[in-house]
Amino acid sequence: MHKKTILMLGGFIGLAFSGITGAADMHTEVIASTCMSCHGPGGKSQGKIPSLTGLHKDHFVKVMTEFKAGTRASSVMKRLANGYTEAEIEAMGDYFASLK
Ligand code: HEC
Repeated sequence: MHKKTILMLGGFIGLAFSGITGAADMHTEVIASTCMSCHGPGGKSQGKIPSLTGLHKDHFVKVMTEFKAGTRASSVMKRLANGYTEAEIEAMGDYFASLK
């Protein structure tokens, strides 16, 4: 590959991940980043959808488990929660609880 192309690629990858560094592992940061489109940048809501930033982990895990089970009313969250394993929900719970 051309040297300039490699440099450019490096720049893009750096940009893509520069906003999501922290204590959590990269897998958790990547899956949690898909939530931000609705729950607001950095998990801070700008509208009616609740913020995820700083949510207590126990609350987060309980709510996500209820969405998955269909025992909590939701428009979209049941469908979304279904896509994540218990371990991923636990990890995201730690991640969102750690955000400020
Ligand atoms: C398409 C928009 C959308 C996306 C993407 C989305 N959510 Fe939601 N979320 C909602 C809406 C809307 C609600 C309110 C409940 C409902 O109608 O489903 C909600 C509610 C929640 C709640 C409940 C908060 C509380 O305290 O009651 C949690 C927790 C949550 N979402 C977590 C997540 C996580 C984690 C992700 C990423 C894996 C995610 N959401 C992605 C739209 C979204």
